[in-house]
Amino acid sequence: MTIPDIVIAVDGYSSTGKSSFAKLMAKEFGFLYLDSGALYRAVTLFAQRENLIRKDNSVSVSLRNALGTLKVDFDREGRTCIDSVVVENQIRTMSVSSQVSPIAALPYVREFVDRRLHEMASGGRVVMDGRDIGTTVFPNAGLKIFMTASMEVRAQRRFLELTAKGQSACIEEVKKNLQERDFIDSHRETSPLSRAADSFLLDNSNMTMEQEILWVKGVLQGKFLILD
Ligand code: CDP
Repeated sequence: MTIPDIVIAVDGYSSTGKSSFAKLMAKEFGFLYLDSGALYRAVTLFAQRENLIRKDNSVSVSLRNALGTLKVDFDREGRTCIDSVVVENQIRTMSVSSQVSPIAALPYVREFVDRRLHEMASGGRVVMDGRDIGTTVFPNAGLKIFMTASMEVRAQRRFLELTAKGQSACIEEVKKNLQERDFIDSHRETSPLSRAADSFLLDNSNMTMEQEILWVKGVLQGKFLILD
């Protein structure tokens, strides 16, 4: 299937399978995959390492200047790196998950991440996932998808993901973290999570990844009148 040179924006709630779906689309269509959430997670890990998060979870204003020294990237395998060192596992812990949403609500953090995303996406043919890609980062994206799934399914998926990596997790704690992040992400002042009016809704509670790919191919064929 020949896909035009577009940006595909995949937004939605935490743990709805955005990144798995976005990665698979990128592979299937020969696009670059960019995980915006990984950048917010990397900023959070960096702030933790620099001791810029206080005990009450408030963030020191020094983070703003410190961001000037943060070199965050993806390597060839798409793994997140800080100063060229892979931090993929470190950014996926519950410790980072529990502090990322307040950090992602800071306007200067959002500016930092948006700038990096635009730099990395400059070549086009990109699938990007996050919370505000279709509404703020790439409002002119060629295709916008908004993903959702039931809370039970989402919590179960994240729980299995964590335990498969050998990280200790409790399903109730995972659920609570997802609910808290949904709330903060949807209610923050700067660029809150909301569905773009021109996005296609995908509820994948009862879908396999193969069915998701068939669904998106159908959407692309209809939208761009692709015949092959
Ligand atoms: O994978 P998961 O759904 O847990 O979240 P993520 O995509 O790794 O993003 C982690 C957090 O970063 C989210 O809960 C949001 O607080 C924030 N985020 C955001 O504010 N805007 C984005 N475009 C992407 C993530």
